[in-house]
Amino acid sequence: MDENEYKKIISKTFDIASAGYDSPELRFFENSADHLVSLLHLQAREMIMDFCTGTGHIPLKAGRFLTEGKVIGVDISEGMLQRARAKVAGSGIKNAEFICSDLESFHKDGSRVDIVTCAFGIFFLPDMAKALQTMKSFIRPGGRLVLTSFKAPFMEPQRSLLFNRLKRYTGTTPPPTAWDGINTEEKFFSFLKDKGFSGIRMSGNQCGYFLDKAEQWWNVIMYTNMRNYVIQLGEKDRMKFKEEHLKEVGELMEPGRGLWLNVEVLYADCTV
Ligand SMILES: C[S@@+](CC[C@H](N)C(=O)[O-])C[C@H]1O[C@@H](n2cnc3c(N)ncnc32)[C@H](O)[C@@H]1O
Repeated sequence: MDENEYKKIISKTFDIASAGYDSPELRFFENSADHLVSLLHLQAREMIMDFCTGTGHIPLKAGRFLTEGKVIGVDISEGMLQRARAKVAGSGIKNAEFICSDLESFHKDGSRVDIVTCAFGIFFLPDMAKALQTMKSFIRPGGRLVLTSFKAPFMEPQRSLLFNRLKRYTGTTPPPTAWDGINTEEKFFSFLKDKGFSGIRMSGNQCGYFLDKAEQWWNVIMYTNMRNYVIQLGEKDRMKFKEEHLKEVGELMEPGRGLWLNVEVLYADCTV
C-alpha cells in the first residue's frame, strides 16, 4: 500500500472513530492529556503546536493556561477536528485554533513555537524519523518536543485475546507496527537518541481504570485503530466474533471492580 492510500485509511478510520472517541470508555486519552499538560508547566505567553491533536484533549487543557499565548492543533482527520472545534467553542477558550493537515506536509509561516506536543500520534506516521524532523523544525531553539506512546503490555490480556481469536477467523496475525519500536521506556529513549535528540526526560503514568461491562471493551475497539482489524470480518462473522470475544473478556471481570483496562503511558520530553 502506498503512503497516500495508507493516510486516506487513517483519516477515514478516525473520521468514523470520532463519533465515540470522547466516550467515557476511552477516557485514558483525557487522563493522559491532563498528565501531559501538568508536565509542561505552561507560562501564560507560550505558543504550542499539538500534532495529531484528535478531538483536542491537549489544546483544551493547555488553552486555559495560555492566557496570552496560543495553541494550534493539527490533525489529518476532519471528523476529529470537528469535535475539537465544537468542544473549544463550548469551553470559552479563545486561543485554540485547529488545522486539518497531514503532519508531514504541514507548512507554517517562519515563526517557531515554544513547545510541540504529539500524543499517541507518532506511530501512525509512515516515516517516524521524518515526522520528528518536521515537528522539530517548528520549535524555537531551547524549546521542547513532548511525545507519548503506550507502554507494553498495553490493554492486556484483552488485546491478545482479540488478536488470537481474529487469527482463528482470518488465519492471519496483524503485522508488526511502528508502535512496537517505542513501546518501552528504553526503546522510546533509544529511538529519540538515535534521531539526534538529547536532554530526553522519560517518565510514565498509569492512565487506565476499570470498565463496568465487557461491552464497553467493544467500544474501545470500535472507536480506536483496533476497529480496522475487526471490520475486515463480514457482518455475520463479526456478530459471532463479538459474542465469543466478549464472553472470554467477560471472564476477566473482577467481582465488585470490573474489567481492568491497563493503559500505562510513556512521556518523552526533549529539549531541542
Ligand atoms: C490515537 S489519536 C490521538 C489523538 C490525541 N492526540 C489524543 O491524545 O487524544 C491519533 C490521531 O493522529 C491523527 N493522525 C494520524 N496520522 C496523521 C498524520 N499523518 N498527520 C496528522 N494527524 C495524523 C489521527 O487522525 C488521530 O486523530
